[in-house]
Amino acid sequence: MWQKTLIIIKPDAVRRGLSGEIIKRIEAKGLNIEDMKMMHLKRELAEKHYEEHKDKPFFESLVDFITSGKVVVMIVSGPEAVKIVRTMMGPTNPAEAPPGTIRGDFGIETQENIIHGSDSVKSAEREISLFFDYALGGSFQ
Ligand code: RTP
Ligand code: MG
Repeated sequence: MWQKTLIIIKPDAVRRGLSGEIIKRIEAKGLNIEDMKMMHLKRELAEKHYEEHKDKPFFESLVDFITSGKVVVMIVSGPEAVKIVRTMMGPTNPAEAPPGTIRGDFGIETQENIIHGSDSVKSAEREISLFFDYALGGSFQ
């Protein structure tokens, strides 16, 4: 099934100059980049994005991290795009992420783990509408 998903290249990866490598992998896989922007997240948006984790002990630290520098936010589409991106990312903890995955190749710790990808079609819809506002007639539907 054709799906859309939201990817965030996290501040650690942007700081380390890995954005191009990650975008290259997404394109090389055959996924479509429908929209993309660089931004420095405000705390309010970061808290909304990660609201499912608001009661977790790592929440404040996660919001500090994701707002600590610029990120690259993308809408990516393709067949089974949600699962394909999650497979390309690897598990949350880079210590468990196999070589060949983005976290396995570039990450070393659980918080600063390089990339976010929506975990379901429902999450993708919610996250896309948080980050991209097409109400005034943007091109991507
Ligand atoms: P993401 O939402 O960023 O794509 O990551 P995920 O689904 O693989 O993992 P999730 O459980 O949703 O956690 C969101 C992000 O919070 C940080 N985290 N820190 N210190 C910890 O135990 C811990 N657990 C999670 C990571 O940055 C993780 O990607
Ligand atoms: Mg998640």
